[in-house]
Amino acid sequence: MSKTAIRKTVLRARNALSPEEVAAKSTLIIEKIIAMKEYLQAGTVMVYLDFRNEVQTESLVRKALAAEKRVVVPLTDVSRHELKLSILGNYPDDLQPGAYGILEPRPNCFRPIEPGEINLVIVPGVAFDLCGNRLGYGGGYYDRFLTQTGPDTPFIAPAYELQVLPQVFPGKHDIPVHYLITEKRLIKTGRKRIPNP
Ligand SMILES: Nc1ncnc2c1ncn2[C@@H]1O[C@H](COP(=O)(O)OP(=O)(O)OP(=O)(O)O)[C@@H](O)[C@H]1O
Ligand SMILES: [Mg+2]
Repeated sequence: MSKTAIRKTVLRARNALSPEEVAAKSTLIIEKIIAMKEYLQAGTVMVYLDFRNEVQTESLVRKALAAEKRVVVPLTDVSRHELKLSILGNYPDDLQPGAYGILEPRPNCFRPIEPGEINLVIVPGVAFDLCGNRLGYGGGYYDRFLTQTGPDTPFIAPAYELQVLPQVFPGKHDIPVHYLITEKRLIKTGRKRIPNP
């Protein structure tokens, strides 16, 4: 199967989840993440804001803000092909739909922060393998961004079991994640790469 075929197949399966399934699985996944030491120890957490049927991050954002962590959200700069980072003040008041309809900070709420200040990144994706290799939406936004974080920054990807595949055909730009958290499992990946056959 090619990357394109995996994206199509997995997104179709994910889109077929009911709102109740999305909410229930997301709750299980976020509960696991907020018990991890990587989360508990992080003062500054970057969190993607879900769209379509991605694992929902609202409860994580609310809990992190309530715990007085610094919550950082991405803004997709399509013309520069990069993610910009902003410290989130109020959820969801400071947000509005941006590129692709994804929530992002309103211009007057934009508070930039350097990638090196982030202690934990919650990474979205389409599909993953057990080594942490990640297939995204095809823009390379997270691959470019993750190289800018500090060397010890953990990357955690919340994902449904249906997004975990035996092989996702990583390329040399693809940055693997350290943990995959599904509704059933916590997978410490070791970030070992599976070479292309
Ligand atoms: N660090 C990088 N530097 C330059 N180009 C990159 C980098 N990472 C990815 N790219 C390019 O971006 C394009 C898309 O990459 P890829 O197919 O891996 O996207 P993706 O991982 O699915 O997307 P995303 O990271 O936004 O979820 C490819 O042409 C790839 O070569
Ligand atoms: Mg990639």
